[in-house]
Amino acid sequence: MSEFRPNTLYYGDNLEVLRDFPSECVDLVYLDPPFNSNRSYNVLFKEAKGTEAEAQIEAFGDTWTWGQHTSEVYDGVVSRGDDVGRLLQAFVAALGRNDVTAYLTMMAPRLVELRRVMKPTASIYLHCDPTASHYLKVLMDAVFGPQNYVNEIVWKRSDAHSDAGQGAKHLGRIHDSLLYYRRSPAAVFNVQYTPLPESTITNWYKHVEPETGRRYNLGDITGPGGAAKGNPQYEFLGVTRYWRYSRERMQELYEQGRVVQRRPGSVPAIKRYLDESRGVALQDVWTDIEMLRGLRTGERLGYPTQKPEALLERIIATSSNEGDVVLDPFCGCGTATVAAHRLKRQWVGIDITYLAVDLMRRRLIDTFPGDFPDGVHVDGDPADEAAALALAERDKYQFQYWAVAKLGGTARGGENRKGMDRGIDGVTTFPEQDGPDQPDTRRFAQVIISVKGGGTGPKDVRDLHGTVEREKAAIGVLVIASEPTREMRREAAAAGLYTSPWDGKTYAASNS
Ligand SMILES: C[S@@+](CC[C@H](N)C(=O)[O-])C[C@H]1O[C@@H](n2cnc3c(N)ncnc32)[C@H](O)[C@@H]1O
Repeated sequence: MSEFRPNTLYYGDNLEVLRDFPSECVDLVYLDPPFNSNRSYNVLFKEAKGTEAEAQIEAFGDTWTWGQHTSEVYDGVVSRGDDVGRLLQAFVAALGRNDVTAYLTMMAPRLVELRRVMKPTASIYLHCDPTASHYLKVLMDAVFGPQNYVNEIVWKRSDAHSDAGQGAKHLGRIHDSLLYYRRSPAAVFNVQYTPLPESTITNWYKHVEPETGRRYNLGDITGPGGAAKGNPQYEFLGVTRYWRYSRERMQELYEQGRVVQRRPGSVPAIKRYLDESRGVALQDVWTDIEMLRGLRTGERLGYPTQKPEALLERIIATSSNEGDVVLDPFCGCGTATVAAHRLKRQWVGIDITYLAVDLMRRRLIDTFPGDFPDGVHVDGDPADEAAALALAERDKYQFQYWAVAKLGGTARGGENRKGMDRGIDGVTTFPEQDGPDQPDTRRFAQVIISVKGGGTGPKDVRDLHGTVEREKAAIGVLVIASEPTREMRREAAAAGLYTSPWDGKTYAASNS
C-alpha cells in the first residue's frame, strides 16, 4: 500500500501506485511513457507472435508487446462498458492485437487513474511522438472529454536529419508531440512569454528615442469598433476620432510623452517601448528548447530518453503555481522532479525500475545540495531482509539494481547487456595512493560488484575473481540472497585479500 506523500519517489508499477493515491491530490501531470518510436512503422504493426520485442531499456520492454497480461488488462478495460472501453475495443477491432494496441491497452487504465488523482484545476501533458499521437489523442478525448483538450504542442526535438542520402523517402522526423488536456475549465494557466524575434525588433521597433536611446514603435490608439464598443469620441491634438482611452487618460499619457503626433494634423499614436515588451505569448510550436546533446550539456545523465529540464520548466510554469504538486508517473531519470523542485513546486515521481528511482534520488540530492538533509524518501524500497528476498524472487534484475545502489555503486549492464560488462553488475571506486606522503600517485581503485538474486555457488566466486583480475580491480563484492556455502568461503579465501598500498593493511571481506 503506497501512501500519498509529496516529495517522494515511488518504486513500482504506476498503475498500482496510483490506485493507492486519494482522488484529486495532484495539480499537474507530465508523462513520457516508453514507446520505441525508433522502430519502423511496419515493425510496430507486426502481429505479436509471442516473441519478445526488443526492450527499450531493461525491465519494461514487455509493457507494449501483446501478451497474456495485456489480454487481461484489455478485458478489464472493455468490461467497464464506458467510452474508454468501447474505444479500446474499436482500436483492437481495426488494428488487431499488436504492439500499438498493447501500448494503448496499457495506457488506458493509467490515464483513467491519472484523471482521478487530478484536482479540478489540474492539467496533464502526455509526451509522445507522431507514431502514436493520433491514437493517444482519441484516447485522451475519451478519458478527459474533447472539451478539455487544450493544445497539441509540437516540440522540435532535433536538428534536421540528412538521411535522404541514405535513401530515406520521407521528410525528416524531428518533432515530438505533447498532448495537453485539462481536468476542467478551472485549470491553472499562466501565460508564458518568449523573446521577440530579431526581425520584429528591427522591423517593428524601428524608432529610437534620441534622448534615452530606447527603441519603440508607434501603436494605434483609435478605438476599434467605434461607438458600438463604447469608445469615447473627442478631439485631441486637432484630430477627432473614437479613442481607446478616456480624455483624462489621453491627456495624462500625452504629458508623460507617450502620446505623440508626428506631424500637425496626423493621427496621434502611442509609444510602445521595446524594453517594456514582455515578448511574444507562447505558441504551440516550440523550437527554442534544444534536445540534450552528448557532453555539451552538464544535464545529461546517460539515460536514453532523458528530456531537457527547460521543457519541463516551461510546462510547470504554465500549468501550476508555487507549492503545487507535480506528478510524473513514468519518471525515468527524474527531469520533472528536478524542474518542479527548482520552481518551488512539490513533486511525486514513479518508476518501475530501481535503476531509474536510484538515479532520480541521486540527481535530486546532487542538484539541490542541502535541500534533503534526511535523503529523498523512496516508497517501495525494500526495507528489510524479507522484502529484499521477495524482490530477488520477483525480479532478479531489479534486485541487482537495488543491491548495487545500496552499496553506493553504479549499475552496469542489466537484462540486455552485451559483451564488455559481462560479470559486472555494478562498480564503485575508492581513492588509493602508494603511501601517505605520495600524493602524486593518487588514483581511484575499482570495486566490482556482482549480484546473484537466485541460486549461487562457488563458481560465482571464481567468476568474480576472474573478472576482478581481468579488470585489474582492487576488490570484488559478491551479493547473494542466501548464506554462502563452505565451498564458497573457501573459494573467496583462495582469491586472496586486498592490501592497501597506503598503510600496508589487509582488508578481509565480510559476508554480512
Ligand atoms: C521514456 S522514459 C521517461 C524519461 C523521463 N521523461 C526523463 O526525462 O528522464 C519512461 C520511463 O517509464 C518507466 N516505466 C515504464 N513502465 C512503467 C510503469 N508501468 N510504471 C512506472 N514506470 C514505468 C521506465 O522505467 C522509464 O524509466
